[in-house]
Amino acid sequence: MQISKASEAVGAIVEDVDVTRLSDQQFAELRRAFFDHGTLFFRDQKLTPEEHIAFAERWGAIDFNRFFKRREGYPEIAEVLKEADQQLNIGGGWHTDHSYDDAPAMGSILYALEIPPSGGDTLFAGMAAAYEALDDAMKPRIKELKARHGNAHVFGEASEYRKAIGDRYTNADQAGQTAVHPVVLCHPETGAKGLYVNPGFTLEIVDMETEESKALLQELYAHIMQDRFHHRHVWREGDLAMWDNRATWHYALNDYQGHRRYLNRITIEGVALG
Ligand code: SIN
Repeated sequence: MQISKASEAVGAIVEDVDVTRLSDQQFAELRRAFFDHGTLFFRDQKLTPEEHIAFAERWGAIDFNRFFKRREGYPEIAEVLKEADQQLNIGGGWHTDHSYDDAPAMGSILYALEIPPSGGDTLFAGMAAAYEALDDAMKPRIKELKARHGNAHVFGEASEYRKAIGDRYTNADQAGQTAVHPVVLCHPETGAKGLYVNPGFTLEIVDMETEESKALLQELYAHIMQDRFHHRHVWREGDLAMWDNRATWHYALNDYQGHRRYLNRITIEGVALG
């Protein structure tokens, strides 16, 4: 098994490995690499749903996503699907999964079953690198701040986005959770500092005037959106990517109209963030 950096700020590529046959030592190495790099990419995996679930369970208990349609017979697996005749994709904007939960999912493990002939790449951003590169005035300014995250605008009954996604999302009546987390996270595994706000689910900075909160979030987002913090994953069928939701953002590009894209995602339970 070889592990090499995918980019300076985020991600590692893991080669010569079959994730269904990992020794305990290989798994320990992967775990270290996962927390060091925030994202792991594996090529040429041939996973049944059962093997995908078994691999996920090595990382922790499964966090059953409430809003994605589940794969039939496998409630652990959320479907990330866009049919050839659908316009809108799932995850088509910068976000991190489940930040609206009090204990956001630790990681997400996405397996590619059907990939368009071109396009449909996923961008990843590294939150520790982005935090480190903040200027000296910003770090003390955000040090003690907390932000509120929520999901009604994405998954709730009134969400235009949810209506357009149609039956690929479920349980609109269960949306509405909000959670408060630090803006600068001390990573629960590594202790590394990273930014923990995202355009998908962060609603506001707590105890700050609305306009000031919006401006600060926009400033942080513009900083993180710089290419130097990103890695672009060009999918092939059989790829498995997994990311640490406390250390990364991701963005599924929607540039493959007229083609089907189908992946399976499992999320792993996380802890409350201090
Ligand atoms: C997601 O946001 O979990 C989906 C990512 C992708 O489809 O590449």
